[in-house]
Amino acid sequence: MEQIFKKTFKDLGYDIDPKISKSNKDADFQCDDCFKLAKEYHKSPQVIGEEITQAINKLDNFSDYFKEVSFANPGFINIKVSDTYICTKLKELMEKPILGATKENDTIVVDYGGPNVAKPLHVGHLRTAIIGQAINNILKFKGNKTIGDVHLGDIGLQMGQVIYGILEDFPNTKVEDIEIDLNYLNETYPKVSALCEEDENKKQKCALITKELQDGKPEYMVLWQKVLDVSVADIKRIYDYLDVHFDLWYGEKKASEYLEELTNHLEKQGIVKEDDGAKIIEIKEEDDKVEVPPFILEKSDGAFLYSSSDLATIYQREKDYHPDAIVYVVDARQSMHFTQVFRVAKKGNVYHGILKHEGYGTVNGPDNRPFKTRSGETVKLEKLIGEVRDEFISLREENKTMDKEDIDKIVNAIIKFADLQNNLERNYIFDIKKFSEVNGKTGPYILYTYLRFNKIISENNNTISNTIYSETDRSLRLKMLEVSEIIDIAAKERRPHYIANYLYELCESANNFYQNNRMSGLEGTKKDDLEIILNFNNKIIETLLKLLGINIPKVM
Ligand code: ARG
Repeated sequence: MEQIFKKTFKDLGYDIDPKISKSNKDADFQCDDCFKLAKEYHKSPQVIGEEITQAINKLDNFSDYFKEVSFANPGFINIKVSDTYICTKLKELMEKPILGATKENDTIVVDYGGPNVAKPLHVGHLRTAIIGQAINNILKFKGNKTIGDVHLGDIGLQMGQVIYGILEDFPNTKVEDIEIDLNYLNETYPKVSALCEEDENKKQKCALITKELQDGKPEYMVLWQKVLDVSVADIKRIYDYLDVHFDLWYGEKKASEYLEELTNHLEKQGIVKEDDGAKIIEIKEEDDKVEVPPFILEKSDGAFLYSSSDLATIYQREKDYHPDAIVYVVDARQSMHFTQVFRVAKKGNVYHGILKHEGYGTVNGPDNRPFKTRSGETVKLEKLIGEVRDEFISLREENKTMDKEDIDKIVNAIIKFADLQNNLERNYIFDIKKFSEVNGKTGPYILYTYLRFNKIISENNNTISNTIYSETDRSLRLKMLEVSEIIDIAAKERRPHYIANYLYELCESANNFYQNNRMSGLEGTKKDDLEIILNFNNKIIETLLKLLGINIPKVM
């Protein structure tokens, strides 16, 4: 269609690339170029619009593409495409791999997850896990090589605190012989953390242990490994439940191995300054609207920081993978941190590829503040998942006897679809009741739609004819034709919500279609056509749900 417009423009002496977009008014598409042309060629948009419209209407192959092309004031060309066009495009789309999305071939590290070892996952870890995994899936689907890295917070103060607790609890046991389990860990961290709040002395002790741990003190390293093993196994269990997976289980500890090399490299660039015993790098820029503080590479006591370990991680990733891009799916409140890290990466010639922080908003409670328990603590992720499960099971009698695996899939769908339909920057209120409903913009609605059609259609390997049977049929087919572009834009902007919202619209179109087109008792071409349409509809739903990390249950 663009080609036809381009050629018509050219024949009329206008040299621009046409822009045709979806129309949500009376037409299928619209061309908005009349204003641009009017400006460039000093005519009125009406004159140009009429001229183009007439030329298009005179084309020999008009009906291959169009049903109606007309000018609308003040300067739009409304386009209604022909049935032949829709059917031809649909046939083409059905043949295309990856639903017609454009292929890509980059190497992209996706950094998501980011849990702090020794503490259980909480609500704050939900969004990075599911948005990060969705972005990873989408980029991979388009042909990119993605490397998902969990970037554990595995050497921070919480580790020093737990080690302190262990040493207190097992004063007479050789560190090698100390045994800890998850229950022990779950009790110890909050206990020591509370002690440190009350007692400055203990706090300093824990800080010292942390520092010595970072320096690799062997006795602490033995305990560190034990804590890591127990905690990571538990973290993995919950990620598995959410179908969230990582290629790399690296963390800040791994990054620390590169710090010396990195520091040497940065010092050679001549950008490292001494400041009160600390090593810093200035990164202010002239047009900064907010003050960007200097990057602290090393504190005066030699301890390294969250920011230096992120920089060292970039250094390691460049060394190991030469990625084209590194994408961070991390809480939006960390945007200054990433501004600093990214600036040093460029200024210090550590990495020149694309660095992107996709900062997401918070999951809020009914009061629209970040989700907390009644007593003000963060809610454990496992507890939150359990509440969604309970709600789903209590909805209907049948749900109580449902297959466990199916329940898990639906619980995932409820949580993920509720999250992923929002532009990731936005905060949203976690409303389990609303998220679980089958009627509404919810995961269950999408699953229900899929299963409903799956029941009535059978495999059909014919090709569709060039007939469209009703307005709702037409709308559904046009909706399906949008899928390639939706995947492309979701990947380009790294925003899964495009896919979630499209899925909802597609399901609405499909349900409308189904209500208005009798499927039973059909025969011949019409039966084939409608069956092929619904088959393809379900193929799209299934593929896109997978990209969002949602699996389809057998029944619901
Ligand atoms: N562990 C960090 C925190 O709890 C999140 C890590 C995010 N990823 C990163 N590369 N900085 O805040």
